[in-house]
Amino acid sequence: MPGGRRPLLRTRLALLAIVWVGGCGSDDPAGTIPTPPNQPGQPGQPSLPATPTPPLRDLAAGVGLRIGAAVDQEIRLTGQAGTNARTVLVREFNATTPGNVMKHDHIHPSPTTYAFQDGDSLVAFAEANGMVVRGHTLVWHNQLASWLTGGTWTQPQAESLLVTHITTVVSHYRGHVVAWDVVNEALADNGARRATFWSNAVGPAYIEKAFRAARAADATVLLFYNDYNIEGTGPKADSAYAMLSDLKSRGVPVDGIGFQAHFQVGGLPTRSDMIANFTRFAALGLKIHITELDVRVPLPATAVSLQTQAQNYRDVVDACRQVSACTMVVLWGFTDAYSWVPSTFSGWGAALPFDASYNPKPAYQALHDLLSTTTQSRAW
Ligand code: G3I
Repeated sequence: MPGGRRPLLRTRLALLAIVWVGGCGSDDPAGTIPTPPNQPGQPGQPSLPATPTPPLRDLAAGVGLRIGAAVDQEIRLTGQAGTNARTVLVREFNATTPGNVMKHDHIHPSPTTYAFQDGDSLVAFAEANGMVVRGHTLVWHNQLASWLTGGTWTQPQAESLLVTHITTVVSHYRGHVVAWDVVNEALADNGARRATFWSNAVGPAYIEKAFRAARAADATVLLFYNDYNIEGTGPKADSAYAMLSDLKSRGVPVDGIGFQAHFQVGGLPTRSDMIANFTRFAALGLKIHITELDVRVPLPATAVSLQTQAQNYRDVVDACRQVSACTMVVLWGFTDAYSWVPSTFSGWGAALPFDASYNPKPAYQALHDLLSTTTQSRAW
């Protein structure tokens, strides 16, 4: 059934124990979807810290923005920890993306084997809770299966491996993801093309071959280039702009650019610089997604650093809402209980809008305030 929605029934059934249907606000205008269990104040359920109403997803939906959070173990956690994580996730967000389970090493563990179970679980969870899924990621230099990087391949073999991987994964999720990060981080920090397994084995045209393979596998899903340190103007953003201008001018099917937005507190481009940068990419006809937003602070966090963090979150989302092509903001997690930051940047953490006990931090309040006063709408 080309282009059709595939059932994913097996994993849906396996998930019944942990999936609930979340209250969806403006995603559920008739109010027919029951409130998730364990909401604060619900009799018989342990309370989570109170947050302002309506939740972020309803405020965002009201102006045509998706707001999402990447998930990893939050989907699989058992007991109260899992219940709490999923309750907050579905209450606040109407989009999600897999932190790891759709990456090459996870989803393609041997040359002839694909492991879709965890990705299917994520999709089933999202669909049951009124959330869209961004697929992440098809072509990257990290988290490639060792059978791939350890092999010796001719150029035609490597190209066939690239195309087969993309075709298989994109076809499997056709109708179930709204966008794919087709190529991730192809640029080095200085803006030069990064030398990677794929660029070496396939050649420099691997990027356009990847986009064309993804489009052949799904005629309508949005196809994104995704990278970090390109949110404001500068040499790396200029390189991304030149690369995407070239791809667009030659008819390569790229639909959007993802700005990852991993920041250090106080270390962002200015809001106006981000708006200027987003605007030039939008003028190429690209949609814009903020794809991996987090703002790490030195530990221990202080009242001052959390206030600066709040302003930083506000500036990024405000820059997005000022550019009509920007239709989605995805955070790289949502609770400080589960974040890639502390294990990667020693001495840093507290990067997300909820603390480890799901207390909303000033960053949450800043996003709530901003989206509460947003009137400009757009079509997602
Ligand atoms: O899967 C293995 C597991 O089998 C093993 O027991 C465990 C022991 O450490 O490691 C597991 O793999 C880890 C994997 O996350 C899944 O949890 C890797 O060690 C760890 O390095 C990997 O980190 C991920 C990182 O990408 C890898 O580069 C982070 O979770 C993930 O959040 C991060 O995400 C990236 C985006 O994809 C691209 N942009 C940057 C962003 C942050 O680095």
